Amino acid sequence: MKVSLSILTIDYANVEKNLKTLLPNVDYIHMDVMDGVFVPNISFGYTFIKSLRKLTNIDFDTHLMIEYPQNYIKQFAEAGSQYITFHVEAKCDVQQTINLIHQCGCKAGIAIKPNTSVDSILSFLPEVDMVLVMSVEPGFGGQKFMPSSIEKVKRLYSLKEKNNYKYLINIDGGINDNTILNVKDYIDLAVVGSYICNAADPIANAQNIKNN
Ligand code: DX5
Ligand code: ZN
Repeated sequence: MKVSLSILTIDYANVEKNLKTLLPNVDYIHMDVMDGVFVPNISFGYTFIKSLRKLTNIDFDTHLMIEYPQNYIKQFAEAGSQYITFHVEAKCDVQQTINLIHQCGCKAGIAIKPNTSVDSILSFLPEVDMVLVMSVEPGFGGQKFMPSSIEKVKRLYSLKEKNNYKYLINIDGGINDNTILNVKDYIDLAVVGSYICNAADPIANAQNIKNN
């Protein structure tokens, strides 16, 4: 199992030190970008991501929880993102936004909130590089895994097998050594935040997920 480390709950004052120990044990850094409109929380933007790019060559899996993703794709690409994922529920033209992400040289991901069905993204599945299934309401780290996400990753897995689609299946929210067991057979990577960042032994917890 590949791990995309959400740094939302990391201690930003010691971000370099904390990341250096964790980086060899994870596969991507998951950048949770929040605008206080699409979700009831504000996190960080592309200038922060650009600074982190100086610390590492690891792939950045940028998750835009913002109302108007189309207006900021170029900035997030230039900041050093490899994957840029936006929400189908955002106020944008989904097809144009996918095209824009590709034009900027990044891989395009589409995310669905817990109340959004896989049906709503069916027509985009042939061309996206990642599908991100939210297993909590977006906005905050440290929430409880919602089992309704399990059927969604199963369906995305069977659609991918049947149609030979290329997208990676990713899940985001409440993942730990227990909840991962529900989805591990259907996903390519998992976003993990508080289970690693807030742990007494973060490296051991990263390994607990990776060993699945
Ligand atoms: C929620 C974010 C998640 C979250 C993951 O809006 O998209 O990435 O911070 O954190 P944990 O693993 O603590 O649920
Ligand atoms: Zn996220």
